[in-house]
Amino acid sequence: MGDEKLHSCSLIYFCSNSCKEETVVDACKGTKPAVRSSQHNVHMRSPSVQHMSSEGNENSTPSTPKIEDFLQKKLKLRAFTYSELKAATRNFRPDSTLGEGGFGTVYKGWIDEIGSSGLKSASSITVAVKVLNQEGSQGHREWLTEVNYLGQLRHPNLVKLIGYSCENEDRLLVYEFMARGSLENHLFRKSKPPLSWAMRMKIALGAAKGLAFLHGAEKSVIYRDFKTSNILLDSDYNAKLSDFGLAKDGPEGDQTHVSTRVMGTYGYAAPEYVMTGHLTWRSDVYSFGVVLLELLTGRKSMDKTRPNGEHNLVEWARPYLRDQRRLLQIIDPRLEGMYSVKGAQKAASIAFHCLSHTPKTRPMMSDVVQTLEPLQHMRDMANASYFFVAGMTETQNQESKNLSVMRSPMQVALGKLSVADVA
Ligand SMILES: Nc1ncnc2c1ncn2[C@@H]1O[C@H](COP(=O)(O)OP(=O)(O)OP(=O)(O)O)[C@@H](O)[C@H]1O
Ligand SMILES: [Mg+2]
Repeated sequence: MGDEKLHSCSLIYFCSNSCKEETVVDACKGTKPAVRSSQHNVHMRSPSVQHMSSEGNENSTPSTPKIEDFLQKKLKLRAFTYSELKAATRNFRPDSTLGEGGFGTVYKGWIDEIGSSGLKSASSITVAVKVLNQEGSQGHREWLTEVNYLGQLRHPNLVKLIGYSCENEDRLLVYEFMARGSLENHLFRKSKPPLSWAMRMKIALGAAKGLAFLHGAEKSVIYRDFKTSNILLDSDYNAKLSDFGLAKDGPEGDQTHVSTRVMGTYGYAAPEYVMTGHLTWRSDVYSFGVVLLELLTGRKSMDKTRPNGEHNLVEWARPYLRDQRRLLQIIDPRLEGMYSVKGAQKAASIAFHCLSHTPKTRPMMSDVVQTLEPLQHMRDMANASYFFVAGMTETQNQESKNLSVMRSPMQVALGKLSVADVA
């Protein structure tokens, strides 16, 4: 929330995507597409992600039942009526609000096998209902992209889309409920206890697996909006990617990139993509590097409340990443030294490579996953290291003093905090 979204150069994006989108606009009762395209049926592109496509016969008429079939039978998505979801969220009650993003408000709700009571019961499941409040084609387009991708992609590190509602002008999405909310809240809300090192590494690995799955799919998918608010956590802190509204098919054949309207979030989008609109999976790798850096430092990718020179996390942190001793100065002070030194060095090296100015030298997400795996169980805690205390900067010492649960530098130096303290 509060991120500055990138929106520009709409022409290319619109031309390359409008047909697919118009097809489903027709499927939604009572809504007229802005531009009619040729054939309105469901075109399957097996075995990768399939699209509601408009390729083919120019004179065909819209085929709403086929599209409804596609969403419900093929994608196994449940079609909800608006009033069902209104009941599920108890009339979109403000106190059931889970969060708010650029495209709408997300509410907690309860649904049953049939219908939706809005009440917690033995037979009900908890869901998150996103109500798009954005008018016009952009919001609708992203709603469609989300239904199309998330409806077809299934992976333990992707949020599950349960169903949708598309009545008149209303567009809603129903997801599995992620009990611990977004990584953004855990990392940056002062009211939340700091995430332990072990949790951070678990979340980084889960999110990396989600991206690796998308890039490795037979028809690769570029996620395009990788950031902490789109990484959701279940009750066991398993990370799942949400928000596929900006996702795109990867380049095909001998194409090196996809040309798109530049979209995403400042602070996370790869610089070459922002400059050229040329999108590749390497742009996602860059964004992953930014998130990894946020996990390491506890700082936001873009923070204008910081002193000059520290607003942009990547620019500020880059010089520290390859210096193994100086690196310890930028590790999140809220961890109070409770992190693995070797793990931090390895993670910083991954971030450094992901954030390379030369996209071709960025690693593949499958390699990132492999490198992160062994970092899950490292226990060489920094607080037991002389270098940690000696290397702490004035700023860090000051920040540490401000922490609510403070341990004295002497305690830290003596390594009095045991490994068992690590969650
Ligand atoms: N399935 C879910 N389960 C639990 N909470 C969720 C779920 N989906 C979203 N949320 C909460 O709602 C918030 C808003 O999500 P949303 O994706 O609409 O916006 P955002 O990611 O904050 O911003 P943006 O519009 O830039 O993507 C999330 O940060 C999260 O806290
Ligand atoms: Mg989001």
